[in-house]
Amino acid sequence: MDLSGKVVLVTGGARGLGAAFARGIVAAGGSVVIGDLLAEEGTAVAKELGERARFTHLDVTDPQSWQRAVETAVEAFGSLTGLVNNAGVTASGVPMVEEPLETFQRVIQVNLVSVQIGISAVVPAMRTAGGGSIVNISSAAGLVGLAHTGAYGAAKWGVRGLSKVAAIELAGDRIRVNSVHPGMVLTPMTAPTGISPADGGFPNAPLGRVGDPGELAGAVTYLLSDAASYTTGAELAVDGGWTAGPPIVRVNG
Ligand SMILES: NC(=O)c1ccc[n+]([C@@H]2O[C@H](COP(=O)([O-])OP(=O)(O)OC[C@H]3O[C@@H](n4cnc5c(N)ncnc54)[C@H](O)[C@@H]3O)[C@@H](O)[C@H]2O)c1
Repeated sequence: MDLSGKVVLVTGGARGLGAAFARGIVAAGGSVVIGDLLAEEGTAVAKELGERARFTHLDVTDPQSWQRAVETAVEAFGSLTGLVNNAGVTASGVPMVEEPLETFQRVIQVNLVSVQIGISAVVPAMRTAGGGSIVNISSAAGLVGLAHTGAYGAAKWGVRGLSKVAAIELAGDRIRVNSVHPGMVLTPMTAPTGISPADGGFPNAPLGRVGDPGELAGAVTYLLSDAASYTTGAELAVDGGWTAGPPIVRVNG
């Protein structure tokens, strides 16, 4: 879990899960570039993390913006060896047949097309560095079908599939690619749903509660580190057991 000498770009790192990943990377000895639309929050997280952190403005849907982010990492820290494709948006939460086409296309653009653009943008720098590790943040909604997540689920299943294609194609460059599948985690994205962080607050998961962003960071740090040197094309559910199977149904008491 040692990230000494690693330089990682975390998209959507200004808050929520991305900020927790950035904190985990620096705590493990690595350097981080936080790329996000939210300059104020992103700058504050970078400042909190000190010398081994930078903020850069990044719109993950814009290839030119990606080029600048990669340049920022190489200029600041000398190389780029890691990428966490974490930036994402939620959708309308309506039945799929009622989801407006514009919403569907926007969610696919931000949550899936951006991952293709991002991987393509970082590979030259990783080849120069002699290899790297890419962690794509999918979702429990990319492991099972969840109602009312048409666009979001389609994007997250796409991220899972694209990760496997990339793992195969980039293995020869010593670039590993894996996907992480968070369950329900309390962040600014999910707070409006009213979820409670208390024990028993999320009975859908066998552990009975939602996750804290810090509980996701270990999985990402591990996959970025040389401890995962033989792990590529894998998918790691960090979801309190939510997608392991249906809950226990007690028949006759
Ligand atoms: N919170 C959960 O329960 C949960 C569960 C499964 C998967 N996820 C996934 O984890 C990731 C992070 O989610 P979160 O809960 O921390 O959400 P969040 O809304 O708290 O943070 C998302 C970050 O992405 C940034 N972002 C959005 N669009 C962007 C763009 N075009 N360019 C650059 N940055 C952009 C936002 O500004 C924000 O800082 C997302 O991909 C989400 O789908 C979250």
